Amino acid sequence: MSRAANRVAILHGVNFDVLDRRDPELYGGLSLSELEYRIGRWASELHLEPSFFQTNSEAEFCGYLHRLGQGADAAIINAGAWTHYSRAIGDAFAVAPVPAVEIHLSDVEAREDWRKVSVFEGMIDTRVFGKGVEGYREGLSIIAERLGAGGG
Ligand code: DQA
Repeated sequence: MSRAANRVAILHGVNFDVLDRRDPELYGGLSLSELEYRIGRWASELHLEPSFFQTNSEAEFCGYLHRLGQGADAAIINAGAWTHYSRAIGDAFAVAPVPAVEIHLSDVEAREDWRKVSVFEGMIDTRVFGKGVEGYREGLSIIAERLGAGGG
Protein backbone atom coordinates (compact mmCIF):
# COMPACT_ATOMS: atom_id res chain seq x y z
CA MET A 1 0.00 0.00 0.00
CA SER A 2 1.29 3.46 -0.75
CA ARG A 3 2.26 5.86 2.03
CA ALA A 4 -0.30 8.48 3.08
CA ALA A 5 0.71 11.95 1.91
CA ASN A 6 0.75 13.70 5.28
CA ARG A 7 4.26 15.11 5.80
CA VAL A 8 4.23 18.86 6.30
CA ALA A 9 7.38 20.95 6.53
CA ILE A 10 7.12 24.00 8.78
CA LEU A 11 9.65 26.56 7.58
CA HIS A 12 10.65 29.66 9.49
CA GLY A 13 13.02 32.23 8.12
CA VAL A 14 15.19 35.00 9.43
CA ASN A 15 14.86 36.16 13.08
CA PHE A 16 12.46 33.44 14.17
CA ASP A 17 15.16 31.98 16.40
CA VAL A 18 14.69 35.09 18.59
CA LEU A 19 10.90 35.16 18.35
CA ASP A 20 10.51 35.47 22.13
CA ARG A 21 12.62 38.66 22.10
CA ARG A 22 10.59 40.35 19.39
CA ASP A 23 7.64 42.70 19.95
CA PRO A 24 5.01 40.60 21.74
CA GLU A 25 2.25 42.94 20.53
CA LEU A 26 3.07 41.91 16.98
CA TYR A 27 4.38 38.40 17.38
CA GLY A 28 2.78 37.02 20.53
CA GLY A 29 5.81 36.55 22.79
CA LEU A 30 6.27 32.79 22.35
CA SER A 31 9.68 31.27 21.71
CA LEU A 32 10.17 29.36 18.48
CA SER A 33 10.18 26.06 20.34
CA GLU A 34 6.91 26.94 22.09
CA LEU A 35 5.41 27.87 18.73
CA GLU A 36 6.67 24.64 17.17
CA TYR A 37 5.30 22.62 20.10
CA ARG A 38 1.81 24.04 19.46
CA ILE A 39 2.10 23.47 15.74
CA GLY A 40 3.19 19.89 16.42
CA ARG A 41 0.13 19.23 18.60
CA TRP A 42 -2.29 20.70 16.06
CA ALA A 43 -0.59 18.78 13.28
CA SER A 44 -1.03 15.45 15.02
CA GLU A 45 -4.69 16.20 15.73
CA LEU A 46 -5.03 16.56 11.97
CA HIS A 47 -3.05 13.36 11.29
CA LEU A 48 -0.22 15.37 9.78
CA GLU A 49 3.44 14.57 10.38
CA PRO A 50 5.34 17.83 10.89
CA SER A 51 9.03 18.58 10.46
CA PHE A 52 10.59 21.86 11.48
CA PHE A 53 13.26 24.05 9.98
CA GLN A 54 14.54 27.53 10.78
CA THR A 55 17.57 29.40 9.57
CA ASN A 56 18.92 32.93 9.38
CA SER A 57 20.84 32.01 6.24
CA GLU A 58 19.13 32.84 2.96
CA ALA A 59 21.35 30.30 1.19
CA GLU A 60 20.30 27.53 3.57
CA PHE A 61 16.64 28.48 3.17
CA CYS A 62 16.98 28.27 -0.62
CA GLY A 63 18.76 24.90 -0.35
CA TYR A 64 15.98 23.59 1.89
CA LEU A 65 13.37 24.70 -0.65
CA HIS A 66 15.29 22.93 -3.43
CA ARG A 67 15.01 19.65 -1.48
CA LEU A 68 11.51 20.23 -0.13
CA GLY A 69 9.75 17.69 -2.35
CA GLN A 70 12.04 14.88 -1.12
CA GLY A 71 10.85 15.01 2.47
CA ALA A 72 7.51 16.76 2.49
CA ASP A 73 4.09 16.56 0.87
CA ALA A 74 3.21 20.15 1.78
CA ALA A 75 4.67 23.17 3.52
CA ILE A 76 3.83 26.03 5.82
CA ILE A 77 6.17 28.93 5.21
CA ASN A 78 6.80 31.99 7.30
CA ALA A 79 9.91 33.48 5.75
CA GLY A 80 9.80 36.62 7.91
CA ALA A 81 11.24 39.75 6.29
CA TRP A 82 12.59 37.69 3.36
CA THR A 83 8.97 37.33 2.25
CA HIS A 84 8.98 40.93 1.19
CA TYR A 85 12.19 41.22 -0.79
CA SER A 86 14.07 37.96 -1.39
CA ARG A 87 13.52 37.17 -5.06
CA ALA A 88 16.06 34.36 -4.55
CA ILE A 89 13.73 32.66 -2.09
CA GLY A 90 10.77 33.23 -4.40
CA ASP A 91 12.71 31.61 -7.26
CA ALA A 92 13.76 28.70 -5.02
CA PHE A 93 10.16 28.13 -3.99
CA ALA A 94 9.20 28.02 -7.67
CA VAL A 95 10.99 24.67 -7.96
CA ALA A 96 9.37 23.22 -4.82
CA PRO A 97 6.73 20.80 -6.05
CA VAL A 98 4.44 20.83 -3.02
CA PRO A 99 1.38 22.84 -2.01
CA ALA A 100 2.13 25.51 0.58
CA VAL A 101 0.45 28.04 2.82
CA GLU A 102 2.17 31.36 3.60
CA ILE A 103 1.73 32.45 7.18
CA HIS A 104 2.47 35.62 9.12
CA LEU A 105 1.77 36.13 12.80
CA SER A 106 1.17 39.85 12.34
CA ASP A 107 -1.20 41.63 9.98
CA VAL A 108 1.29 42.40 7.22
CA GLU A 109 -1.41 44.15 5.19
CA ALA A 110 -1.97 46.69 7.96
CA ARG A 111 1.69 47.55 8.55
CA GLU A 112 4.34 49.32 6.44
CA ASP A 113 3.83 49.26 2.67
CA TRP A 114 6.96 47.15 2.10
CA ARG A 115 5.41 44.33 4.13
CA LYS A 116 2.45 44.15 1.73
CA VAL A 117 4.70 42.68 -0.98
CA SER A 118 5.25 38.91 -1.08
CA VAL A 119 7.79 37.15 -3.29
CA PHE A 120 5.47 34.11 -3.18
CA GLU A 121 2.67 36.03 -4.91
CA GLY A 122 1.17 33.99 -7.73
CA MET A 123 2.75 30.74 -6.47
CA ILE A 124 0.96 30.27 -3.16
CA ASP A 125 -2.81 30.27 -3.19
CA THR A 126 -3.41 30.69 0.52
CA ARG A 127 -1.97 33.32 2.82
CA VAL A 128 -2.94 33.53 6.48
CA PHE A 129 -1.86 36.62 8.38
CA GLY A 130 -2.79 38.72 11.39
CA LYS A 131 -4.19 35.79 13.35
CA GLY A 132 -1.19 35.19 15.58
CA VAL A 133 -0.36 31.62 16.52
CA GLU A 134 -3.89 30.49 15.62
CA GLY A 135 -3.03 31.26 12.02
CA TYR A 136 -0.86 28.16 11.98
CA ARG A 137 -3.78 26.01 13.05
CA GLU A 138 -5.79 27.42 10.15
CA GLY A 139 -2.88 26.82 7.78
CA LEU A 140 -2.56 23.22 8.95
CA SER A 141 -6.29 22.62 8.41
CA ILE A 142 -6.00 23.96 4.88
CA ILE A 143 -3.07 21.62 4.24
CA ALA A 144 -4.86 18.62 5.81
CA GLU A 145 -7.84 19.20 3.58
CA ARG A 146 -5.64 19.63 0.54
CA LEU A 147 -3.78 16.38 1.25
CA GLY A 148 -6.89 14.54 2.34
CA ALA A 149 -5.02 13.61 5.53
CA GLY A 150 -7.86 14.23 7.94
CA GLY A 151 -9.03 10.60 8.01
CA GLY A 152 -7.99 8.41 10.88
C1 DQA B 1 6.35 38.16 9.93
C2 DQA B 1 6.05 39.50 9.26
C3 DQA B 1 7.27 40.05 8.57
O1 DQA B 1 6.98 41.30 7.98
C4 DQA B 1 8.40 40.25 9.57
O2 DQA B 1 9.56 40.70 8.93
C5 DQA B 1 8.68 39.01 10.36
C6 DQA B 1 7.53 38.25 10.87
C7 DQA B 1 5.14 37.67 10.75
O3 DQA B 1 5.09 36.49 11.07
O4 DQA B 1 4.29 38.48 11.12
O5 DQA B 1 9.82 38.66 10.63
O6 DQA B 1 6.61 37.20 8.93
